[in-house]
Amino acid sequence: MTDTRKTLLVTSALPYANGPIHLGHLVEYIQTDIWVRFLKMQGHTCYYVCADDAHGTPIMLRAQQEGISPETLIARISKEHQADFSDFSVEFDHFHTTHSDENRELACMIYERLRDAGHISRRTIKQAYDPEKEMFLPDRFIRGECPKCGAADQYGDSCEACGAAYSPTELVNPVSAISGATPIEKESEHYFFKLADFEDMLRDWTRAGHLQKEVANKLDEWFETGLREWDISRDEPYFGFEIPDAPGKYFYVWLDAPIGYLASLKYLCEQKGLDFDSFIKEDSDIEMHHFIGKDIVYFHALFWPAMLKGSGLRTPTSIHTHGFLTVNGEKMSKSRGTFIKARTYLEHLDPEYLRYYFAAKLGCGIDDIDLNMEDFRQRVNSDLVGKVVNIASRCSGFIKKRFAGKLAAEIHRPELLAEFVNAGNGIASAYTDKEYAKAMREIMALADKANQYIDEQKPWVVAKQENNDDELQGICTMGLNLFRILIIYLKPVLPVMAEKTEQFLNVDPFIWEHNQTALLAHEINNFKPLMTRVEQEHINAMIEKSKEDLTATQNTSGDTSGGKSTVSGPLHDDPIADVISIDDFAKVDLRIAKIIKAEHVEGADKLLQLTLDIGGETRNVLAGIKSAYSPEDLEGRYTVMVANLAPRKMRFGISEGMVLAAGPGGKDLFILSPDEGAIPGMKVK
Ligand code: MSP
Ligand code: ZN
Repeated sequence: MTDTRKTLLVTSALPYANGPIHLGHLVEYIQTDIWVRFLKMQGHTCYYVCADDAHGTPIMLRAQQEGISPETLIARISKEHQADFSDFSVEFDHFHTTHSDENRELACMIYERLRDAGHISRRTIKQAYDPEKEMFLPDRFIRGECPKCGAADQYGDSCEACGAAYSPTELVNPVSAISGATPIEKESEHYFFKLADFEDMLRDWTRAGHLQKEVANKLDEWFETGLREWDISRDEPYFGFEIPDAPGKYFYVWLDAPIGYLASLKYLCEQKGLDFDSFIKEDSDIEMHHFIGKDIVYFHALFWPAMLKGSGLRTPTSIHTHGFLTVNGEKMSKSRGTFIKARTYLEHLDPEYLRYYFAAKLGCGIDDIDLNMEDFRQRVNSDLVGKVVNIASRCSGFIKKRFAGKLAAEIHRPELLAEFVNAGNGIASAYTDKEYAKAMREIMALADKANQYIDEQKPWVVAKQENNDDELQGICTMGLNLFRILIIYLKPVLPVMAEKTEQFLNVDPFIWEHNQTALLAHEINNFKPLMTRVEQEHINAMIEKSKEDLTATQNTSGDTSGGKSTVSGPLHDDPIADVISIDDFAKVDLRIAKIIKAEHVEGADKLLQLTLDIGGETRNVLAGIKSAYSPEDLEGRYTVMVANLAPRKMRFGISEGMVLAAGPGGKDLFILSPDEGAIPGMKVK
């Protein structure tokens, strides 16, 4: 037990109220929830708050599209979000909304303090305006041809074909994505936050241990390019808060979003009779921790501390940044069925599988983390089902049948138990440091030792020996005590399994220091299975369902970025690929392949099975080109394949690569064919 108990406010980023929670989001909420649960188990007073980020143009437009008020839309989404979080055991002390009285009051207060201190400026700017819809257009709502490469139908801020960044006025033949009208330029007065006023303060603050090293380094680049004034106002129509002294002008969604953390806390304080001011005053001794993804660092590590400082409030203790989720090594993709909604997952798989898997992958850095479906299945089955749960099921039956549920009065192998107890400090520091992968490794190493103990002691053999009851009871009691400590250590990650275990062992809810005591001469309850294996067919069904979801939701996608892409890189929820570097491209091994055999795949509507010769090596590839080619047309032809793609298990077999094809799809799909002279195996450059 740590000797200093602290009070902390902990937050996760506020999800946008116009879309569902998906597995990418859950990296963050699960990461934060584990941290909070661990701190609470250690006896700290921790308030974990969140809210829906309810303002902005996309939410306003989506409500219009559905023919409902934004208030109705955000109320519905809030319910959905909270159900998702609760089913994944993400346990907030309060979940609020940025469209609330508390937030309006705090946003106005902070704005007025910044204004009165001279940190707000006003000036007139020209912007794209939709004359039909009669509103100014955010960059993401203007489409047109890229001024650099000419690619059609690009966003107003950057080109997805060539990666160029530009301003919407540079787009060729621009159109409003809302009405299709040609935007005109219109002037309007905007309000700006003078970020540069805080340059010195921010340079110090970002180097004072509040951020991870990599994040602080990234910020240096931003300091180099200079801290520009930040446009914090939007013209009506806008769904948000009207600026107090500026009728018809609204706070930009990103101004009141982080203030939403405090609004959520304020509501909680009112409910619980806590002193809100003690959390936010400049010299507060309560810690304030924000967990965020790497795409929103700019807002949290520059704007937010500056806004707080400028309005005489405390700044954050730490910003904890994590990387992005990829699935099977690639960005989540709607067409591959790897853009998986929290709800879709829940319909097929146990949420604690995912909590464990993320924990097993998460370190304290900002690297992306990959959900590899095969690894997921194997790891959960072998660690949780095969190692941990197995200990209890191997020992509990004898205790129940032979000893009326009663544990022995003494510990069979005190030195082994001591080893488990002593490992607690290392595991606790790993949790504190967000090194969950390390914590999981240490816990599984202990689980191996527990299984090894049972293998050596062979209770099933002892059970058959006459007059050896004490020995049998001792071994099984020992096994269950080792199991109990493992579950104490896993409780931040697996709260449901921990609760089932508390019920089975007939004990009070575990706290961390319970690892110091053993459970002896105590009556336990019947053992019920704590977790079942991950089945491949459930994973397949989830992926298939996610592809179906795509057709159902395709028309409702809009700008979910709230404009963050302009300062922090491309949208991550988008199925279109990011720009890659030449190094990334160099990793792709393209080879000339000769199609030596092409066959139908039984039961598959889209696939052909191709046998490819790439110069001395043959590969089996399942290609979705059945609607364009009959097998006999393909045999003998040459094409280009990606030769170093990890083999993929598909419903109809394993595919060992991919052939390149182009076209809109269906019958109009063309296998790329090299010119004469190509030889199988030749590298394509
Ligand atoms: N509304 C803003 C945050 C405002 S906080 C004052 C926002 N919302 S979001 O819904 O787009 O994202 C919420 C959080 O989820 C962010 O921290 C974001 O980085 C994280 N993630 C969203 N997609 C993700 C992945 N694919 N992978 C990991 N985290 C991801 O940003
Ligand atoms: Zn371009």
